[in-house]
Amino acid sequence: MIDRIIVPPIKCQGIKTRLVKFILENIYWNGKGRWIEPFLGSGVVLFNVQPEKAIINDINPHIIRLYQMIYRRDLSPEEVRTYLTNEGRKLLSKGEEYYYVVRERFNRTGNPLDFIFLNRSCFNGVIRFNSKGEFNVPFCRKKDRFRRSYITKIVNQIKQIQRVMMTKDWEFLIGDWRECLKNVEKDDFVYLDPPYIGRHTDYYQQWSEDDAAELARITRDLPCGFALSMWKENKYRLNDHIARHWSGLVERTCTHFYHVGSTEDLRNAMEEALLIKPGYEAIPFVTQISKSIQLELAFDEHTS
Ligand SMILES: C[S@@+](CC[C@H](N)C(=O)[O-])C[C@H]1O[C@@H](n2cnc3c(N)ncnc32)[C@H](O)[C@@H]1O
Repeated sequence: MIDRIIVPPIKCQGIKTRLVKFILENIYWNGKGRWIEPFLGSGVVLFNVQPEKAIINDINPHIIRLYQMIYRRDLSPEEVRTYLTNEGRKLLSKGEEYYYVVRERFNRTGNPLDFIFLNRSCFNGVIRFNSKGEFNVPFCRKKDRFRRSYITKIVNQIKQIQRVMMTKDWEFLIGDWRECLKNVEKDDFVYLDPPYIGRHTDYYQQWSEDDAAELARITRDLPCGFALSMWKENKYRLNDHIARHWSGLVERTCTHFYHVGSTEDLRNAMEEALLIKPGYEAIPFVTQISKSIQLELAFDEHTS
């Protein structure tokens, strides 16, 4: 059971920070093999599982390269502090136009420090690339974005994930999920969090009905445990993809609120599902107790 969530330094759409506790409390895995995450995103699930061995993949090279540099200690938290302090000062004095200077530079060079800068000062903390593969999210419009406390928060998040990664045997891959799922073994556990069908589509997030159907088909044949996160239902509609492609799995659900505006009445409820291969679901605490009582009773009956 986790009591404090480790929050990663990178944000993305569909980030599971608020759902990570629900996800981990519902999965049972013996931890003997590798934790495999083909759709890493921010990495919040991985950093909270903290597996000894892992295969970490995303099609977005900027995410993987950055985390790999932190893992290999090619980028230190103090370097990030110095960089954000200097660039934050320029943003403060030159304003919005400086954000676009950094964005243009990042699109030319792919500098991982610029990636952190953009990710933490763009509008809504999303990652979006246009059809030419250029980051195109506008500025959040706060020129004093990189205040000292905000930089310290980001630096601490980097320190924390570096601590988690220390001594771990993790393999980083950049590519399509199909490749990542090729050599899965029986003790591994695969956690899947693909993009929403037809939503957030951009250069790195093209996700069609066919991709979703193929993911279900390939995953069902895996020799190991797996779990998949997927939205189930909101006020307007039910996600029928679950019934079509993922039937027969253990389903755990949780209501999640997201904000679309500044006031309370703009909070919308979304039912989130976790679909788990049977046998890999955690038994809720109460059931566990009743199971152990049943076992004791059976033992008593047998021995008396
Ligand atoms: C919903 S996000 C994952 C969010 C993540 N679980 C978190 O909590 O931050 C989906 C991720 O899948 C990646 N992705 C999209 N298409 C992919 C593909 N074909 N193969 C591998 N990764 C892909 C995207 O770049 C994105 O980071």
